[in-house]
Amino acid sequence: MTYLVTGGAGFIGSSVARRLIADGNIVYIIDNLKTGYLDNIPEGAVFINGDFSQDEVIDRLEGRRFDAIFHIGGQSSGEISFEEPEYDLNTNTLSTLKLLKYCVKRGCNRFIYASTMSVYGEDGVKEQFSEDDATNPKSFYAVGKLASEKYMDIFHREFGIDFVSLRYFNVYGVGQNLENLKQGMVSIYLKQFFDKSFKKVEVKGSLDRFRDLIYIDDVTDITITSAHNSRFNNQIINIGTGVKTTVREILDLIKLYTDSKKEIIVTSGTKGDQFGIYANNSKLKSIYKKELTPFNIGLKKMIDWIEEK
Ligand SMILES: NC(=O)c1ccc[n+]([C@@H]2O[C@H](COP(=O)([O-])OP(=O)(O)OC[C@H]3O[C@@H](n4cnc5c(N)ncnc54)[C@H](O)[C@@H]3O)[C@@H](O)[C@H]2O)c1
Repeated sequence: MTYLVTGGAGFIGSSVARRLIADGNIVYIIDNLKTGYLDNIPEGAVFINGDFSQDEVIDRLEGRRFDAIFHIGGQSSGEISFEEPEYDLNTNTLSTLKLLKYCVKRGCNRFIYASTMSVYGEDGVKEQFSEDDATNPKSFYAVGKLASEKYMDIFHREFGIDFVSLRYFNVYGVGQNLENLKQGMVSIYLKQFFDKSFKKVEVKGSLDRFRDLIYIDDVTDITITSAHNSRFNNQIINIGTGVKTTVREILDLIKLYTDSKKEIIVTSGTKGDQFGIYANNSKLKSIYKKELTPFNIGLKKMIDWIEEK
């Protein structure tokens, strides 16, 4: 099979591309290396270095027909979406529209999209969200992701393109970019605990905030499975563990595993940040039967990886 993986130099995209290649598939990658790294691109992938929201970059695919497109690349920080809203819109939404048009033109019938839990926003009361709950984006990032979901829905109805929208919750694990201090709660804290140039660990926002933390290997397996299992067809699906973990619990576990005594300081939160959200993952569990990695196990793997680097 031949696949296109956008964002294949990034955390999730490179993991998906690596697995696809290991399974004997041909993989094309488009990535502009904005937050990704050349070193992440798996051996054997055909790499197109460029912005996937630009026609001239998509043209470099030379009309190839893909068995599926995994549109995983994107601008993944709510904070940056306020700093660079046009870039966010082009990267997360215009690119989706252009790649869907490519699917129609080139007869590629399956589109897997990296959406986000951020589309739910928050209402101050509800903590656990299911796919049927109302969406209420609080950042430009979330607006763009939600718009992409709507484009996919219309392309399905009008042109028969099958889609899967994976609403990832907080993905963490081995291979995550520790240098990006604007995205990825676990990686941001680990960076500050491990890097000696950080005298203290700064937490932007309350320690009572909470998240649903899902390990990269589970996300990779679910993402690839969703391209083959017809029960994922034309579904929006929460990709979370259904377990609520507070920032305080994350920090306590890191301290326990690293034996660190670093001081933690709490500063004001970032714009558009959700206080707390976790997944109702019944829909995922009804179609994906494998066990998901508990946070303590995944975190330990990540810490071991950092210590070995
Ligand atoms: N990591 C998470 O917890 C999380 C949660 C929810 C949703 N997501 C979504 O999953 C996707 C992957 O996230 P990630 O954690 O791997 O992020 P990442 O930053 O590691 O990877 C994104 C990749 O996309 C590339 N990219 C960005 N803009 C591009 C453009 N215009 N043209 C070409 N390449 C471009 C980057 O260079 C990078 O390699 C993103 O779309 C993100 O919104 C991630």
